[in-house]
Amino acid sequence: MAVPQPLVLETLKPRLERAFATAQIKVRNLVEASPDFFPMYTSQGRWNHGGALWTDWCAGFLAGQMWLIAERTGDRWWRSTAEHYSRLLEYKQHDREVHDLGFIFLNTYLPWYQQTADPHLHQVLITAGQTLAIRFHPKGQYLCSFIGTQSLFIDIMMNVPIIYYAARETNDPALRAIADAHCRTTERFLVRPNGGTAHEGTFNPETGQFLHQSTHQGLNAESDWTRGLAWSLYGYGTVYTYTQNLSDLDVACRNADHFLNRLPDSFIPPWDFDAPAGALRIADSSAGAIAASGLLQLAQLTASASPDRSQQYQLAAWNLLDALCHDQFLACANPDWEGTLKHGVYHYHRGLGVDESVMWGDFFFLEAVCKVLATIRNGQPQNAACDPRNDQS
Ligand code: GLY
Repeated sequence: MAVPQPLVLETLKPRLERAFATAQIKVRNLVEASPDFFPMYTSQGRWNHGGALWTDWCAGFLAGQMWLIAERTGDRWWRSTAEHYSRLLEYKQHDREVHDLGFIFLNTYLPWYQQTADPHLHQVLITAGQTLAIRFHPKGQYLCSFIGTQSLFIDIMMNVPIIYYAARETNDPALRAIADAHCRTTERFLVRPNGGTAHEGTFNPETGQFLHQSTHQGLNAESDWTRGLAWSLYGYGTVYTYTQNLSDLDVACRNADHFLNRLPDSFIPPWDFDAPAGALRIADSSAGAIAASGLLQLAQLTASASPDRSQQYQLAAWNLLDALCHDQFLACANPDWEGTLKHGVYHYHRGLGVDESVMWGDFFFLEAVCKVLATIRNGQPQNAACDPRNDQS
């Protein structure tokens, strides 16, 4: 279990600004070297142009970084580039073959719509939510993964918010009921009593009856695939912002507590918390980045009801980010490395993107960095317990 060290924002701030500057350079280099190209992971530090994808779910993370950079810098080139790359993804609003429409549209069309109130962008978001809802299996009461009707993935918890969004914007109770049912089925069959998660639930595709937990990317069916746990932590937290259902917040907190209990002292998670020591136990920086951003959200969501818990989550997120800002992980001093964050893992068993940069790792790292920097810029009250200078004991 990692014990968060006291950190002051003044110490963290230059490290985060360096990380932000690094992301700007890496994304701009990619745009200039390979226009309109949406890579997913690197091979020896170079964005992979021809490699296998397993499933194509990542385009929103590149365009999403452009929105984050555009918002923080106010720079017109970044804004027009973000719009251009987002527009290239618009056709995906009708894609029934994937479960990842939240990843694609919530990081692109949502910030775009929030900044313009353009009704066309609004409609794209609604259509994407309605399209994802078509994947609902009525007998099993879950949204099927891209694998098939028998399969429920923990990752879908990060995508179901787009159905909540569409349901709210169209005032559609049937759409809302689909999203609610998916969350409860996932909680029942994939979230374990200790707060850990399985990657997949396998069901009888005819009857919808739950058969067993399973995995594609984790060590085994019983293990804690670290990124899946981070998806659940962040996903249930986001769902709570739509539902205000304390069951959703409770799952997110249980995921967070389990994640932090299993996190090593270094604050860098292995790709699977059950990976044995030795060559198999390699880092997944992307899981750390997702968890950091999810913990920052959870710190806000718990601030009024549980201030101590909120402070613990915030400090853990700061420690995670601080660890990722070290040169071992941040590719700042390495101009030949094309991604921002080194040492991520996509699919260990298939040998895809292992110990490489992965686009979602770069996105969630940048998102978390921007969240903390925005807190500093907006002058929001600092968390006294995170600041040892305020320790009166
Ligand atoms: N397929 C989602 C992930 O690799 O986390």
